[in-house]
Amino acid sequence: MVELIFELVGPYYRLSSAEVKAVIEGKGCRWKEKGSSKEVLVLETDCTVEYIAPRLGLTHRVLLHEYTGKQEDILKGNLKVELPEGSAKVETRRIAGAEGETQEIKEILGDELDNPIDLIDPDHQIVVLFTKKCHVGKLLYSSDKEGYRSREVKNRPFFSPISLEPRYARALVNLARVKEGETLHDPFCGTGGILMEALHLGLNASGGDIDKNMVNGCIRNLKEFGFECPVKLGDMGDTIPYELDNIVTDPPYGRAASTSGECTGNLYKRFFRVAKERLKKGGSLSLILPDKKFIDAAKGFRFLEGYSTKVHSSLERHYLLFEKI
Ligand SMILES: C[S@@+](CC[C@H](N)C(=O)[O-])C[C@H]1O[C@@H](n2cnc3c(N)ncnc32)[C@H](O)[C@@H]1O
Repeated sequence: MVELIFELVGPYYRLSSAEVKAVIEGKGCRWKEKGSSKEVLVLETDCTVEYIAPRLGLTHRVLLHEYTGKQEDILKGNLKVELPEGSAKVETRRIAGAEGETQEIKEILGDELDNPIDLIDPDHQIVVLFTKKCHVGKLLYSSDKEGYRSREVKNRPFFSPISLEPRYARALVNLARVKEGETLHDPFCGTGGILMEALHLGLNASGGDIDKNMVNGCIRNLKEFGFECPVKLGDMGDTIPYELDNIVTDPPYGRAASTSGECTGNLYKRFFRVAKERLKKGGSLSLILPDKKFIDAAKGFRFLEGYSTKVHSSLERHYLLFEKI
């Protein structure tokens, strides 16, 4: 068992936290929460950090848990963190306007260390996160910012306003808890945001889209990042394979999305019917819809979890997870 601190990407902390738990559960491991704040998840798990951390989209850093509590206790000198040999640095971050005696705590923890301080290129880092509580841990993993930045919508050779940003596409894939060797299909693949993240995770993925431009653009985007997978042109009813394990998708909604003339309510109903027919029993359906009212259209599915995000004043994205019954 290991106790870890996850510094979550905001502002949709419930979604970020759910992603961590989904990755652990997808591996068949267990977790137990231990004094989390809204913005920082603290949990004990039998899963390794090497497995969890590189898979996450909505986590900045993962720390080995040392302390959660009041900063006054640290200010009184009640916390001593032991580090292996090598240079060290203490870093602090106040999250969402939280109050914190950052400089004082840096000095107190730094003075307690037996290691030489190196602010530029330390071998070890102690990170202090201030929320309503104070969380202290040893840095184990920092998110691949450069990788995510390079795959951002504006940095892809083919892009459109409908595209999903990579960290969010990654979270949607992770919510599905895809097991090793299983298949995943995105029938509304657009520019390929979801497929790119699925392939990055080494999953067995395929896609489809009704728009020829999207199919060609998606293949181009995948190629740009060194990926390849089957992407078919056609209505979702013709591209979703039978005996499928997982569907992860982001169907059309909002003003800029194209449905080839079909009203979205009708398209969603038709989609749920096809998905029910093609998914294996127990298969997962992880998708984004613009309104929770459409959950009722998912006949033949059990609704498991849902998280809301705001795109702009008139569009919300609801990340929803269903299981085929
Ligand atoms: C919201 S976009 C998907 C965006 C995608 N996640 C991305 O990152 O680019 C929805 C896509 O569904 C496609 N679409 C609309 N109606 C469809 C249908 N009946 N069957 C398959 N694709 C459809 C549109 O062409 C559009 O590319």
